[in-house]
Amino acid sequence: MFSSRLKEVQAAVQVALDAAVARQPEGPLRDPMHYALQGGKRLRAFLAIESAAIFGIPEAQAMPAAAAVEALHAYSLVHDDLPCMDDDDLRRGQPTIHVKWDEATAVLTGDVLQTLAFELCADPLLGPAERRIALSLALAKASGAAGMGHGQALDIAAESATNPLSLSQITALQAGKTGALISFASRAGAILAGEDEGPLSDFADAVGLAFQIHDDILDVTGCEKAAGKRVGKDAEAGKATFVSLLGLAGARLREGELIDQAIDALSPYGEEAENLRAAARFVISREM
Ligand code: IPE
Ligand code: IPE
Ligand code: MG
Ligand code: MG
Ligand code: MG
Repeated sequence: MFSSRLKEVQAAVQVALDAAVARQPEGPLRDPMHYALQGGKRLRAFLAIESAAIFGIPEAQAMPAAAAVEALHAYSLVHDDLPCMDDDDLRRGQPTIHVKWDEATAVLTGDVLQTLAFELCADPLLGPAERRIALSLALAKASGAAGMGHGQALDIAAESATNPLSLSQITALQAGKTGALISFASRAGAILAGEDEGPLSDFADAVGLAFQIHDDILDVTGCEKAAGKRVGKDAEAGKATFVSLLGLAGARLREGELIDQAIDALSPYGEEAENLRAAARFVISREM
């Protein structure tokens, strides 16, 4: 069952992340790093591990890639919550880093979580050096100036844009800020196996878009306690969201279509992709 499988992955990736932090030298960033790596759905770790499973790569072998994408994602959240970005005080049910510590600590914690992600991509457990280089390059592209960082910049710029963004502009923004990392996680298995990334890439494009549509829906309809973060903030902040453009009903319709598309993209695979199909369904049914 999906929820019990997700719980297993959550527990296993937590062990890997805690061990990675424990390996860091003692210092002022170790506690906030550890703090920023707690909680979360671990959807990206799940995608990495289950994409690897399709190619017969055991969970333990894929784990550093799963931990890497979660470390990178955690960094993006720490920075996303900063006062100069979305200015949020609650994340994963806890005070954000800049609230619990201070802004400089939050900036630096984000920085070192990002570099930790690349340290994890170099883990020999993942296999031959050339595969680890391919994985690192894919993560760099997904998170950098062509990926998440780019999308986040567009997201912030949209707040002060004079005209509302078009659907294609919001889609491009999303593909960077959220889609790129979900795509990396979904392709990780194929990269580690040296196999064709095509079907997983198509799967991820649809899942990533549906994921952000659902995040935007939850900002309107969600509950703070379940989500573990503030809701009802996007409209006030002038964010370009799928709900602002399509309306709630339109956004729900669109995310459903996308999940059908995502599942179709997995047709080259059989039973071994069942957990990824379930993950896709979860993306639009979740309340957090
Ligand atoms: C939230 O991501 C930020 C977005 C990319 C929309 P998640 O909803 O995956 O956050 P966690 O990791 O479960 O806390
Ligand atoms: C955040 O998007 C995306 C990244 C952190 C890269 P949002 O700003 O919509 O995420 P939440 O709603 O704060 O989790
Ligand atoms: Mg944001
Ligand atoms: Mg935010
Ligand atoms: Mg959001």
